[in-house]
Amino acid sequence: MRKNIVAGNWKMNTTVPEGVQLAKEVCMAVAQAPGIKCEVIVGVPFTHLTAVNEVIDKNYVGLAAENCADHVKGAYTGEVSAPMVASTGANYVILGHSERRGYYNETIEMLKTKVDLALEAGLKVIFCCGESLDERKAGTHFDVIKNEIVGSLFHLDAEAFGKIVIAYEPIWAIGTGETATADQAQEIHAFIRGLLAEQYGAQIADDTTILYGGSCKPSNAAELFAKPDIDGGLIGGASLKAQDFMGIVTAF
Ligand code: PGA
Repeated sequence: MRKNIVAGNWKMNTTVPEGVQLAKEVCMAVAQAPGIKCEVIVGVPFTHLTAVNEVIDKNYVGLAAENCADHVKGAYTGEVSAPMVASTGANYVILGHSERRGYYNETIEMLKTKVDLALEAGLKVIFCCGESLDERKAGTHFDVIKNEIVGSLFHLDAEAFGKIVIAYEPIWAIGTGETATADQAQEIHAFIRGLLAEQYGAQIADDTTILYGGSCKPSNAAELFAKPDIDGGLIGGASLKAQDFMGIVTAF
């Protein structure tokens, strides 16, 4: 069954006390809101995982890390492995965000390893893909997205692929205030679902959650989520205030 999801990606924001407070507010709001039609997840910095895990009720809010290492353990100073993330109580990890790919040189091959290690550690993966403005203008956006998905995910068997959530995030829409139109997003989501159908069959493609990310906010979420292949959002800026985030959560 395809699940709707709204996931926050706090990025490098909030101190631990601020993050704990925000997580508490989100959890309380979700617990009190009637008839929420999606799974709600908060994606938080590594430093916050354990503390946030203690204050949220997993019946209402899931917990995601924003990254994990491409090694399991050992002499990798400053890195945090997938088993470490899982040991905090987190149940998801966001991988392949364009900021990781762009600023930290994460490659398709490296992400393939991270995906494997995350799944081995029992984490579900929110896998991000998306094109830059130049790539869209050049008309190569379909190829870019296809390469990212095929290269890092299509080695998985059907059972493992069931633990993957895909997030389409056009880089030109992230943090810019410029959202893809609902039709632009739907076009790509349908394309992605088509790729999944070719590789894994219609049933698995239909069951896979595909999120949109990029300047999603309370005022545009409902229009985006109304599209047949948009199953929720990965939310950056608007996930940093409980009220804004809840405005998106309740947009279904
Ligand atoms: P934004 O970020 O909502 O601030 O555009 C989305 C993301 O990068 O996940």
